[in-house]
Amino acid sequence: MKLRTTKVEIDNITVAFGAMTVPENLSLTIPTGAFFTLLGPSGCGKTTLLRVIAGFTEPKKGNVRFGAQDMTHVVPHKRNTGLVFQDYALFPHHSVFENVAYGLRARDVDAKTIKDKVNTYLDRVGLLSFAERAPSEPSGGQRQRVALARSLVIEPTVLLMDEPLSALDANLHQEMRLFLSEIQREVGVTTVFVTHDQEEALAMSDVIALMRDGAIEQMADPHTLHNRPKTARVASFVGAANLLPITVRGLEGDVAHCELFGTPLTVASNGMDRGADVKLCVHHHEARLAPAGETAFEAVVKTSAFLGGQVSYEVELAQGETLSITQTTGFSAPEFARGDKVSVALSSDCCLVSAS
Ligand SMILES: Nc1ncnc2c1ncn2[C@@H]1O[C@H](COP(=O)(O)OP(=O)(O)OP(=O)(O)O)[C@@H](O)[C@H]1O
Ligand SMILES: [Mg+2]
Repeated sequence: MKLRTTKVEIDNITVAFGAMTVPENLSLTIPTGAFFTLLGPSGCGKTTLLRVIAGFTEPKKGNVRFGAQDMTHVVPHKRNTGLVFQDYALFPHHSVFENVAYGLRARDVDAKTIKDKVNTYLDRVGLLSFAERAPSEPSGGQRQRVALARSLVIEPTVLLMDEPLSALDANLHQEMRLFLSEIQREVGVTTVFVTHDQEEALAMSDVIALMRDGAIEQMADPHTLHNRPKTARVASFVGAANLLPITVRGLEGDVAHCELFGTPLTVASNGMDRGADVKLCVHHHEARLAPAGETAFEAVVKTSAFLGGQVSYEVELAQGETLSITQTTGFSAPEFARGDKVSVALSSDCCLVSAS
């Protein structure tokens, strides 16, 4: 069951709260059918942007378009968006069925169609047997499924979700992540998903827009955003990456010939310009510990935590920098203990990022 959907264009949007403007002159295009995530720390403007798309917040400037249709001044209930929030927002005194039926009743849909559609979507979220129960009866994850069925039953053109998983405990969280991704792909509706959880964003999205202070820092697919962050800030927020001082000697297409603490090292240039102020981005899995003397980068193990399938280390390089390294166990990989003298091998997947 594919829904009719559309791309969403945000064109030069500014929202003003008194003297404060968040976001300011923000433009972006959300491709048709994409699972699109707004990721960023608290207060960066994710909810505000979602509310602008839904029509609850009127921008001071700029336009919102669904396909060719200008929606900027269209009232929320005429935009045909489906909404899912963190707190479910279910009506406690109505049955699960009535909660899901709500949007259809508001649209004066006939009783038979309501029954068919509500049952179809309750079945799809696996809660048909809960139809006549109170919405307080299902568990947290199930309540969020009711909320999802309620937003899908109107067959929305665009689905908007604001931190829908953040109230769920870890196990449910994982399960609901998969469930949401799967159902979104099945119905194919353009989805704008808000989260401050980078792992959630990486696991679920087709495209992620990383926001900061009301602006977009980088927009890319999960692999690019994580593996090729443009700035040190993006690298820290998305991958908690290590950042090291580095000197670039020469750029050759995708490759940068550099010096790290006086030792030649070849890494990914990541589109950095000659002479730019850069740092070396080293993700936790892009460095490997070896016995002392194997590489030129000497270090001492400061902490070592065995996590089952992997070991998480903090090591101090001879030059004083600290590196966090995660190493997969098994295949007789050597393990190191606190205080061990080691050397560090760096993958050529490490990349340059803009220092600012
Ligand atoms: N109605 C309002 N009146 C005044 N300021 C507001 C209003 N709504 C949001 N803001 C401010 O706009 C900024 C962006 O808020 P927004 O709620 O969009 O952030 P967010 O990224 O969703 O944060 P969080 O992760 O905490 O939900 C914040 O500084 C917030 O205080
Ligand atoms: Mg918010």
